[in-house]
Amino acid sequence: MTTDRKTEASLWHRLLETRLTRRSALGGAAAAAAAVSLPLTISSAEAVSNNGGPSTVDPQKVTPRATPPFRAIGVTTADAVTLPAGYRAQVLAPWGEVFTEGGREIGFNHDYVGFFPIDLLQGGTSSTEALLTINHEYVNPMFVGGDTKNRTPAQIRAEMEAVGVSVVRVKKEGREWRIVPDARNRRIDALTEIELTGPARGSAAVRGATMVKGTVGNCSGGQTPWGTLLTCEENVDGYAKAWEGSGYDPMHQGWVTEIDPFTPGWTPKKRTAMGRFRHENVAVTVARDGRVVGYMGDDMQDACVYKFVSRGKYDPANRAANLNLLAEGDLYVANFGNGSWVLLDYDKNKKLQDAKGADGKPLFASQADVLADARASALAVGGTPVDRPEDIEIHPRTGEVYVALTNNSKHGNFFGQIVKFRENGDDWTATKFLWEVFAVGGPQSGFASPDNLVFDPYGNLWMVTDNSDLSTNPIKAFHGNNAMFFMPTEGPNAGKAYRFAVGPVDAEMTGPVWSPDGKTLFLAIQHPGEDSESLDKLRSNFGARAGSNVPRPTLVAIEGFPGWRA
Ligand code: FEO
Ligand code: CA
Ligand code: CA
Ligand code: CA
Repeated sequence: MTTDRKTEASLWHRLLETRLTRRSALGGAAAAAAAVSLPLTISSAEAVSNNGGPSTVDPQKVTPRATPPFRAIGVTTADAVTLPAGYRAQVLAPWGEVFTEGGREIGFNHDYVGFFPIDLLQGGTSSTEALLTINHEYVNPMFVGGDTKNRTPAQIRAEMEAVGVSVVRVKKEGREWRIVPDARNRRIDALTEIELTGPARGSAAVRGATMVKGTVGNCSGGQTPWGTLLTCEENVDGYAKAWEGSGYDPMHQGWVTEIDPFTPGWTPKKRTAMGRFRHENVAVTVARDGRVVGYMGDDMQDACVYKFVSRGKYDPANRAANLNLLAEGDLYVANFGNGSWVLLDYDKNKKLQDAKGADGKPLFASQADVLADARASALAVGGTPVDRPEDIEIHPRTGEVYVALTNNSKHGNFFGQIVKFRENGDDWTATKFLWEVFAVGGPQSGFASPDNLVFDPYGNLWMVTDNSDLSTNPIKAFHGNNAMFFMPTEGPNAGKAYRFAVGPVDAEMTGPVWSPDGKTLFLAIQHPGEDSESLDKLRSNFGARAGSNVPRPTLVAIEGFPGWRA
């Protein structure tokens, strides 16, 4: 380990230790007095960035940029990853690449990417060697298996094995990232045994199940401070018909699943206490009192924003205990009309006990029922339906929570926006908050349909767009292909969007995550050529194997950032 590496590692640990010190310093009566005099900005000790993954930068000690570190690029419809001068993208882990000893392949349609430094559990923050976790959100049957209408059992199996999560060891050698062999390289797919935990485990809502089959619809996610992945099950409803006869049960999907990338023997856990809905992501942080907080969006028109607060407290010295932290806690829904978090607790909230469906029958008979249909529960207690809440991230300098509202054609919000809120007293467990609009999509700002967000270690926001109608909708003509934007959050240009990267034809770029030192940006290229009529009329060849023209979803590793912090 070089001296630099030691410094970086100790910074990450100092941040965690300071969290604990603050926790004990603010205990009991002292807390009430101290809380009043706390500065408005949060301590760096509580800051997170990078989708919850580690960073080696103290965000309170850097000056945020008012302008991008690159010359912004223009709109393009090129079938390529287009970057500013001086930056380069390397294809890494494309669909179909064999990466385990047993011959398993990288799955389809990459989404969220987690960066787990290979030495994380030993206190390290390697930026050149890691276990990456890659979500595979769904398959395009034209590319995987073939027939969309009359699936054979073999095709269903091929599709079930192409979704879920890949855990992949990667290493940077010289200028190149490559996959390296490791016993932990593996696939968690729609057939993997997964344990249900929390109030809905074994309940009637999940037909009595304690173990279930697989994870699907793996959209975005988050990393926990104890080094696990939270993968979020988003669009889970269509599979019951598509995979008929496979035993697929939609009530066993739509949860947050926790995976320990470092421990293949640890059975993945579905966290029913965090509710069941179209989970986009979880933005994880540790509150001042040590409880773990997760912000989550339900990606659907007129659906809500949620917050989970764990019952137990985070202990950096006890990973075994932390691995149970998400089994129990409180689930809240946001009421943006009065800036409050409403608890979804069947026993404490009469509105949930009294809620009735259109048929006049009670909607819920238990907390398990409330969690299994969190959307209906949220609307029954005054949760605010918003415009497709997708990714949520916490600003590493200010503690504010940013929410991408992609769009909502039901209400004329075709371009989407990003809002941000600040918890009362800068306490992430607070039940009151204030909010404002940060940026609005449209020709005036240059972007539409914001989806994934990520803060770099310096507190700059990066955002990727998810427009599915770019080639057909005249109001999107200004946009070109889906793109990634840099957005200052402080200073005179706060909220302005600077185009950094443009994806290939029909693709959406997803899952942005940084190496802890901020020098490599991993970005997933999802569904290139998705609108192609057939394999004979492909609209994109991005990521194709040598000798083939079939496009492939893939990761790219983007470099060229040295000096960008200045
Ligand atoms: Fe899978 Fe909400 O994007
Ligand atoms: Ca998404
Ligand atoms: Ca994110
Ligand atoms: Ca999306």
